Amino acid sequence: MNNFWSNNIQGVKTLYLSRKLRFDDLFFDQYKKIFDLDETADMRILEIGCGPGALSESLHRWFPKAHITAIDRDSGFLSFARENIPGVDFREGNATALPFADRSFDVTISNTVSEHIEPIAFWREQYRVLKPGGVCLCLSARKGLHCTAPCLEKTAEERDFWENIAPSNDELEKYGVGKYAMSEAELPASMEKNGFSDVATGYAVIDLTPDAPKYPAEMAETMIEAMRQNDLEAIASVHVPHAEKVIAAVNSKYDERLRLYREGIKQWDTSVSVTMIVRGTKR
Ligand SMILES: C[S@@+](CC[C@H](N)C(=O)[O-])C[C@H]1O[C@@H](n2cnc3c(N)ncnc32)[C@H](O)[C@@H]1O
Repeated sequence: MNNFWSNNIQGVKTLYLSRKLRFDDLFFDQYKKIFDLDETADMRILEIGCGPGALSESLHRWFPKAHITAIDRDSGFLSFARENIPGVDFREGNATALPFADRSFDVTISNTVSEHIEPIAFWREQYRVLKPGGVCLCLSARKGLHCTAPCLEKTAEERDFWENIAPSNDELEKYGVGKYAMSEAELPASMEKNGFSDVATGYAVIDLTPDAPKYPAEMAETMIEAMRQNDLEAIASVHVPHAEKVIAAVNSKYDERLRLYREGIKQWDTSVSVTMIVRGTKR
């Protein structure tokens, strides 16, 4: 166990809030069609590389009769998930050596995890723990759209801060971050090559535009807070002392964005994410 990912790659709140939005009930219809699972079934679902647990939290609401187990090797994410998400069995462990018996799950699912794990081991372990007829769902982020509000452009303090940080790629390599990313054609081919049948693909397009009237205020404000957490946790992750000035600059620009939202002064900043979903079965 370690907390490399939550300390260095994506902070707990960054990941939790971004996924809480992405897997909001408003978007369930899109996932439902591609997941093609029986909502009333008493199934056992395993989420691989669950991070802080937002996908499992949504699965628990969407499939109320299912028993959901979620596994990750990052202790920071798991402590958050256990404290904040009831109804899911969070376990620590390695996706390449799953601590579960053969043929013990009806569904395995992962979101933005296949990119970081050697594919033969990634598929082999899921195939092993699935029951015959079981479904493997692999979700993978694709290129989306992003447009920033003028008040959220990088401040002078942020530019100064990031200019002085030398990026280190050593640990990213050690943990295989992004090492196994596959194209839209390679991912389903890899699933098929590793034994799965009836492989199908689909895409969920999640539009996060705080000013869009279709979103309730609480959700719109969560979109803004998610961006704030992303910036704050990125600063915290580089462990530089005396970052007070840059933290204050970041907080003040998001406070301004919230003020504009609350006063109805629209900015139309947007973030549209595209998630590829690959579905296969174990014969
Ligand atoms: C990009 S994050 C995605 C987290 C989560 N699925 C989500 O969407 O919020 C990748 C996750 O995979 C986990 N991970 C990477 N390699 C792993 C492995 N071999 N075994 C278990 N977890 C792993 C990391 O700790 C991290 O939580």
